[in-house]
Amino acid sequence: MSLSTIRPMQQEDRDAVVQLLADSDPWKTLGYTGADWNRIFSPLPQGREALVALVDGKVAGIALIREKFLLGDYLELLGVASWARGQGLGGLLLGHIEPLVFERTKNLFACVSDFNAPARAFYKKHGFQEVGPMPDFLIPGSAELLLRKTAGPARSRN
Ligand SMILES: CC(C)(COP(=O)(O)OP(=O)(O)OC[C@H]1O[C@@H](n2cnc3c(N)ncnc32)[C@H](O)[C@@H]1OP(=O)(O)O)[C@@H](O)C(=O)NCCC(=O)NCCS
Repeated sequence: MSLSTIRPMQQEDRDAVVQLLADSDPWKTLGYTGADWNRIFSPLPQGREALVALVDGKVAGIALIREKFLLGDYLELLGVASWARGQGLGGLLLGHIEPLVFERTKNLFACVSDFNAPARAFYKKHGFQEVGPMPDFLIPGSAELLLRKTAGPARSRN
């Protein structure tokens, strides 16, 4: 796999991003359809940093970061195309995002579905702690786990 680049998402990436997400779990299990993703990405998400990773010029990964969430930033979406998984691309995307985030704030938050064992392992490997479950958050009978990676306390004690 040869990573071409990680760069801000552009209008021309939209269809590939929508397809990448529409084809993929956990979102299929969580009830997201291609129509949902089309709506979410039309227009391109505002007030977030949207990044794509390209492999051989093809969109292979997407990340959305929302600033200012609980004394940190929130990684709202992280997805790698099924054909590109398990080859380090998710780690590269995180490695690109984290310095940007920790330059401006002390925490990076994310969510992961309790049934998404590979992603839970991925985040654990990258230093995220599971803060706790939010039961029945997206679908009945399943929890979203809030995750936190931190560079330390936000304030010093007096
Ligand atoms: C989770 C995800 C972003 C990780 O990206 P990736 O490029 O596959 O991950 P990397 O190659 O950098 O890291 C691999 C690690 O992730 C985990 N992993 C997750 N999915 C995997 C897969 N399909 N194949 C292999 N490893 C996977 C493993 O713990 C693996 O650890 P190891 O290298 O010690 O075996 C990606 O698999 C993905 O998009 N999955 C579907 C959507 C999702 O779950 N998003 C995150 C939660 S919303």
